[in-house]
Amino acid sequence: MRFHELSFYPVTCTVPTQRPKILVLATGGTIAGVATAAATDAGYRAGVLDVASLLASVPGIEDLAELSSAQPCNIDSKDLDPALWTELALRVRRWRDDGGAGCVICHGTDSLEETAYALHCLLPPGPPVVLTAAMLPATALSADGPRNLYDAVRVAIDAHAAGRGVLCVLHGTVHGARDVSKVHAPRVDAFDSGPRGPLGLAGGDGVRFTRVDPRAVTVPLATPTRWPRVELVCSHAGADGAVVRALLVLQQAGELCPPLAGLVAVGTGGGTVHAALQDALDDAVAAGVRVLVAPRHGVIDGGPYDGLNAVKLRVRLLLELAQAASPH
Ligand code: SIN
Repeated sequence: MRFHELSFYPVTCTVPTQRPKILVLATGGTIAGVATAAATDAGYRAGVLDVASLLASVPGIEDLAELSSAQPCNIDSKDLDPALWTELALRVRRWRDDGGAGCVICHGTDSLEETAYALHCLLPPGPPVVLTAAMLPATALSADGPRNLYDAVRVAIDAHAAGRGVLCVLHGTVHGARDVSKVHAPRVDAFDSGPRGPLGLAGGDGVRFTRVDPRAVTVPLATPTRWPRVELVCSHAGADGAVVRALLVLQQAGELCPPLAGLVAVGTGGGTVHAALQDALDDAVAAGVRVLVAPRHGVIDGGPYDGLNAVKLRVRLLLELAQAASPH
């Protein structure tokens, strides 16, 4: 796909005279990571630099918007806990209530798709929320974080960005939270939106949206204050359901806190499950656990969970079960 072929909206290059108010929330990741050498990963650590350092590394970012910033945490996103989604959703809501124009969230790439999709389900339509990240630490030659952060702010202030759900801006591309996935561990161009493709481009020529996602506007789920337990189990050669049965034994003994409320089985092919694992899943359903199945590769095709991969299906089930358990 070449940039000049995409012409649904004019390129947005003008910076409004009254600068929009943008909140930058930094949570860690490689965008805030450092290494002891510029050309290798030696001594690499994620989530080291603070939000002020991230912003200071992006020339011209202050000219785009009136920036406020906060640091809810500074972690490697493999250590993400759903409580962070609650905090981010509440902060975004408060910012919007105070008249803020948009939010940018700096995140680790490893679990970015989970946070993006969780916020997509939790936030009502409104001013843009844009996640960004980096594949190279801030100390690297050609670090990608500053460019990605600049582009993310540009998308957050873009007149066409609202109403598209939560967006992710990485490597010059605007992805929708529902479709985006990290598909390469080492490549700088690590994210992909699958067969539906990204929503647009963001780069030296400005921001250009190329696709409207009709599923972007969703009825927001309540922001959980308590999170249930939803585990992922995998169907594979010899999957005999022992993991599920062990969970059920612990559950019955009252040793799971929070108790098991849901299971997502990652199936073979389009979502088939080993017969022995299926027996155990049936026992789980009989014990009151909600069970859903996702394909091992790709996404669910059709139905209420259309377009979700296994980890996002787990996020969705967590949110639905949390909502069902919360007092109305
Ligand atoms: C992380 O996900 O926090 C570390 C990896 C990365 O950001 O690329």
